Amino acid sequence: MSEKAILVVDGQQIELPIITGTEGERSLDISNLRSRTGLTTCDPSLGNTATCKSEITFIDGEKGILRYRGIPIEEFTENPNFIEVAWLLISGNLPSSEELAEFRDLLTANELLHEGLRHQFQHIPVEAPPMAILSATLSNMACFYPGFLSLDTPGTFNEAAARLISKVRTIAAYSYRRSQGLPVVYPDPSLRYCANLLHMMFSIPYQQYVITPEIEDAFNLIFILHADHEQNCSTATVRTVGSSRANLFASCAAGVSALWGPLHGGANVEVIGMLERIRAGGMSAEDCIAAAKQRDSKFRLFGFGHRVYKNYDPRAIILQQTCDRVFTQLKITDPLLDIARKLEELVLKDPYFVDRHLYPNVDFYSGILLRAMGIPTNMFTVCFAIGRLPGWIAHWKEQHDDPGSRITRPRQVYVGSGKRKYVPVEER
Ligand code: CMC
Repeated sequence: MSEKAILVVDGQQIELPIITGTEGERSLDISNLRSRTGLTTCDPSLGNTATCKSEITFIDGEKGILRYRGIPIEEFTENPNFIEVAWLLISGNLPSSEELAEFRDLLTANELLHEGLRHQFQHIPVEAPPMAILSATLSNMACFYPGFLSLDTPGTFNEAAARLISKVRTIAAYSYRRSQGLPVVYPDPSLRYCANLLHMMFSIPYQQYVITPEIEDAFNLIFILHADHEQNCSTATVRTVGSSRANLFASCAAGVSALWGPLHGGANVEVIGMLERIRAGGMSAEDCIAAAKQRDSKFRLFGFGHRVYKNYDPRAIILQQTCDRVFTQLKITDPLLDIARKLEELVLKDPYFVDRHLYPNVDFYSGILLRAMGIPTNMFTVCFAIGRLPGWIAHWKEQHDDPGSRITRPRQVYVGSGKRKYVPVEER
């Protein structure tokens, strides 16, 4: 028998069904509440609201569990292959070797940018933020590939998804080249996904960038760890925009904008800024922690805390281990890694953070790892976006294919002025 909850409103008993997810998580179904009682629910920032049913990613924030289509994130770390994970998220299953080869070919076939799109880079100021370029260029893809605005056949959807996943890397590399005043380097079809990105960013005419397997693996892993995270701010944005039946390019461009903020994907940049300030002697680790505890300040300890995880973020654990491995493999050191470890140690003993269950999140170590791989700070959030794109696409598709999906249109509790008269300007 299905479970129900009873709500008593104005002396009347209302039965509300309880929905149970695969892993036993329970949710009160209030979809008919307003029509039956006139009441809405008030949940600013949606901390208690499941906005959809989804089959893509499962998180248990109390236990620190993250699974893509049922597979624990830790299982992707052995021979990390971002493209395989992208396919898994979007299609629902791990690809067969034929499917993987076909997907790879489709990505290679779509790696070049339309020359019209490429020319636009020449008019962008050198100091333009790469996230602004990324969002604008993804949106602009709708101008250059109008055949993919309606995705009603599986063939067009797969091609649009491949175009986005492949070209996002080319756009990212071109935006970096632009910021350096360097000529663009075209993609090399003989290279795999991550190696090709490194090639387009760092090769220079007549000098091919040498890609080490350690760095290629670390890049695959970083992208995998960022690939999906259920209803986070940017994915919820993609779903909201997509719910109006806006096209996939426009929806993902909106996702990039949401990701940019320092409380979301932009936190990886803020973490490095914070660690740099500590290194430069501008503030100590203790000052930083004290500032983050000030209730009236906007300052946060970047790279710590999470809406869902009230335990270690499993992605942070993997990234911390990967940092150790890559630093040893490449025989490099970084004073910021030592500062990060010291900060983490202090935080994990501090009652403010302990009581609030604030642990390192994915952004705490990802920046240090990206730095070690030679990625400049202004490209960190772009790397997050490249990783997150398959997740956005999977969610857009899940919603698009759901016959019960409706436009996202929340309610509000109006607390403004009561009815009043318009006063002509000369009488004000
Ligand atoms: N520094 C200081 N205090 C914090 C922090 C932090 N990093 N995170 C949470 N708190 C406090 C918060 O002010 C609240 O205090 P109180 O109970 O006294 O009002 C308490 O801890 C509980 O916060 P919450 O409800 O768990 O936080 P939230 O869900 O509103 O925000 C967050 C989540 C990730 C935006 C927040 O933890 C934060 O700002 N962290 C720093 C930014 C960051 O690292 N973001 C990356 C998140 S992971 C990857 C991603 O999603 O992009």
